[in-house]
Amino acid sequence: MPRRKTMKKPGNPWKSLPSGGLIAPSLLACDFARAGRQIDQVIAAGADVLHMDIMDGHFVPNLSMGPGFVQSIRNHTDHPLDVHLMVTDPAYYLERFAQAGADSITFHIEADSEPARLISRLRELGLGAGITLRPGTPAEAIRDVLADVDLVLVMTVEPGYGGQDFMADMLPKIATIRSWLRPRQRLEVDGGINQQTARRCADAGADVYVAGVDIFRAADIPKAVNDLRQAIK
Ligand code: DX5
Ligand code: ZN
Repeated sequence: MPRRKTMKKPGNPWKSLPSGGLIAPSLLACDFARAGRQIDQVIAAGADVLHMDIMDGHFVPNLSMGPGFVQSIRNHTDHPLDVHLMVTDPAYYLERFAQAGADSITFHIEADSEPARLISRLRELGLGAGITLRPGTPAEAIRDVLADVDLVLVMTVEPGYGGQDFMADMLPKIATIRSWLRPRQRLEVDGGINQQTARRCADAGADVYVAGVDIFRAADIPKAVNDLRQAIK
């Protein structure tokens, strides 16, 4: 494993990133054999955070990456790492991903019966704290913990795979949750995001845009980041 370039301390990126739309390329769609180069490309093009999808084959049917992959990316860049846990037992993994270099961790409300406990553990670890919900889970399910999170991630596809079609029926949920948030809290959307769907999410109140296939499978990766940036202005 390459040596870290710097001894970056994990920190809560949502507090320091500028307000306004943020772009979060999802590494799930990158070419893993060329991950370092593609990450450099999206960062140079202005990506704000790197989104990392952790799937355990239980909470979702797919397997993706673990703490070792996050650590490799941490060794490669100081850019904020936005970890999205799609796992059955998020409590077990918080420390592991914090230690691997995550800056923010988002877990599913469906996966833990004591979300407030996980959020306070994330605070103790000095990380950003996010809560997310499947498309079929009503907005009300997260209402009790909203005051304590930095970010709400509204899934706009069924979690598990990249490259699915955006679910437009999530737009009212985005608007509802936005109406419940304080101004500095972030609302992230994830799944089927491209220029057109990002614009619709922006109009509904989103301000962090995860995009996998739209960026990493584009013929011109920097142009895809720039085009998305223009769409959310
Ligand atoms: C899906 C993941 C997404 C996924 C999005 O379970 O949470 O982050 O990578 O991929 P695209 O943008 O290709 O729909
Ligand atoms: Zn994700």
